Amino acid sequence: MQVGNKYYESLWFDRDHPGEVRVINQRRLPWEFQIQIIDSLEEVYLAIREMTVRGAPVIGVLAAFGMYIDAYNHPDEAHLADRLDHAAEYLLSSRPTAVNLAYAVSEQQKIYHAISGHSAVTGALLRRALGMADTEKEACRLIGENGFPLIRELAEKKQGEPVNILTHCNAGWLATIDYGTALAPVYKAHKEGIPLHVWVDETRPRNQGARLTVWELKQAGIPYTLIADNAGGHLMQHGMVDIVLVGSDRTTRNGDVANKIGTYLKALAARDNHVPFYVALPVSTIDPALKDGKDIPIEKRAAKEIIEMEGMTGTKIQKVSIVPPDTPVMNYGFDVTPARLVTGLITEKGICQASEEGIRSILKY
Ligand code: MRU
Repeated sequence: MQVGNKYYESLWFDRDHPGEVRVINQRRLPWEFQIQIIDSLEEVYLAIREMTVRGAPVIGVLAAFGMYIDAYNHPDEAHLADRLDHAAEYLLSSRPTAVNLAYAVSEQQKIYHAISGHSAVTGALLRRALGMADTEKEACRLIGENGFPLIRELAEKKQGEPVNILTHCNAGWLATIDYGTALAPVYKAHKEGIPLHVWVDETRPRNQGARLTVWELKQAGIPYTLIADNAGGHLMQHGMVDIVLVGSDRTTRNGDVANKIGTYLKALAARDNHVPFYVALPVSTIDPALKDGKDIPIEKRAAKEIIEMEGMTGTKIQKVSIVPPDTPVMNYGFDVTPARLVTGLITEKGICQASEEGIRSILKY
């Protein structure tokens, strides 16, 4: 995506610096556009855990690069496969909900368990990580193509009035390699000249909507309005939302959708107000091994994310406490929207019902 006069992806590899991967530091946005170089397994783990890089598809790709970087950094390792198995466990412990991470790690495990020799393994791990980045990017482009007709149909009904889209968290290009998931059809529709307006949930506690989605939409010149997380239901009651588009971190065989905490409440409000609720996701986010959403591991994050708010004061990014001392806190990162509340799943292979049959028709298993 374009940032100022330069095209960026959220993560990239430079062949002139083979032991590193470059990422956009999402913790500094929207105040500072900073590129971070990551050159060790520990830094990959921390970037995922502390959310320098976040969003299901891109953390999968970064984990794949993490396995490669660890192999690259240890040319004398006599027991490379054992070492990489430890690296895999370590990365898996960083964030549990997005299945893309587990998928990426298991793909890399297949490689070093099948071949031997340091340079052969390292080369194959790099090719797989680069391949995953390309696949995710193309999947998101196609999600945009496949989701676009939904917005076009709404635009036809609205006869020149902007289509009002509500989104939660950040499911844009920062969360993927490029294009985004939920935002991919939005970018495509904007490019096609369809009048649009996006309601952006602030997405407490980390404010990915306020910080990242707003930043992305602003870069793209798409009209948006930031709203408090609890405002969506009111807007829907008053006919101010035409469609809800969200991403997913893991979708189970029956179509249940784990996404950023608060998504479920938007789906309930959408159903009550007859607003279509679509989930956009690459097939790498579908976990056919899980029957339904109750088995999805839901990440619990640190209390400080709720106790403190982060913002810019003058030239400094600072945190301030917003609650009385010793306030007990529970911080679930994700919730599960039951398949029955989902109008459809927008994937790179087409749109399907959020059901076992729908998912089977897409995955062809
Ligand atoms: O905790 P985060 O910011 O990593 O959560 C991200 C989301 O919930 C996104 O909606 C999800 O990854 C889908 S986006 C491609």
